[in-house]
Amino acid sequence: MASSPRAFILRHTRLGPVPGLEGIRLHLADEVLPLWHAVQVETGDPDAVLPYWAFAWAGGLAIGRYLREHPEAAAGRRVFDVGSGSGLCAIAALQAGAAEATAADIDPFASAAIELNARANGHRMTVVRRDVLDVEPPDVDVILAGDCWYDAHLAVRILPWLRSAQDRGIDVLIGDPGRRHLPTDELVKLASYEVRTTTELEDLELKQGWVYALRPADQIA
Ligand SMILES: C[S@@+](CC[C@H](N)C(=O)[O-])C[C@H]1O[C@@H](n2cnc3c(N)ncnc32)[C@H](O)[C@@H]1O
Repeated sequence: MASSPRAFILRHTRLGPVPGLEGIRLHLADEVLPLWHAVQVETGDPDAVLPYWAFAWAGGLAIGRYLREHPEAAAGRRVFDVGSGSGLCAIAALQAGAAEATAADIDPFASAAIELNARANGHRMTVVRRDVLDVEPPDVDVILAGDCWYDAHLAVRILPWLRSAQDRGIDVLIGDPGRRHLPTDELVKLASYEVRTTTELEDLELKQGWVYALRPADQIA
C-alpha cells in the first residue's frame, strides 16, 4: 500500500452531509469506478473489493432514519454495527443516545473510514477489523446490519449469526432495499423510508429502504 488508508480516504473523498440524516457527515465519494480503480492501484490488488465504505448504502440509510424516529431502540444501549462500511449505522446509534457503539468491517479501508467519520461527527467508537461472523455474537444489546444482503456468501453466513444473537436476547435491526439475497420470509417489516442514494450504486436515486426484525424461529413456515 503506497499510503495509509486514512490518507487515501482523505485524498479520494469529501466530507459532506448524508441526505435525510441531517447532522451526520461522512467522507463520501461521488463516483464509484474511479475510486475502485484507485483502490486497486493503491493495494496492487486487481481483485480489490468495491469501496463500500465511501458510500451511504440504502440499508444503512433506512436504519439511520429508523433510529431518528425510534431513538429508544438505541438510547442507553450497547450497539454493534456489523458490515459497518462508513460507520453510518453506528454513528446514527450514537446520535440516538447509544451508551456505546462498536463498528465491525473486514475491509481495512472501512476501519479507517469509520474512525475518520466517527471523529468528524464528534463520536468515539470501537472499531473491529476482523470477520466477526466466525465467532459468537458480542455481548451487546442491539446489533445493526445495514445492507448486508448483496452477496450470497455473506447472506448465508450472517443470518445464522444474527439468529444466534437474537437467541441470546440481543435485538437485531436489519436495513435493506430488497437485495436479491434478503431472506424476507424470515423477517418482520418494522418501517419503510424513501432514501436518497446515488445512481453510481443503484438503478434509481430514490430507493425504498426497509427496516426489519428477525421473525422468531417458531413463526417461520
Ligand atoms: C453494502 S456495505 C454496507 C455498509 C453500511 N452498513 C451501510 O449501510 O452504508 C456492506 C459492508 O459489509 C462489509 N462486510 C462484508 N463481509 C463482512 C464480514 N464478514 N464481516 C464484517 N463486515 C463485512 C463490507 O466490507 C461492506 O463494508
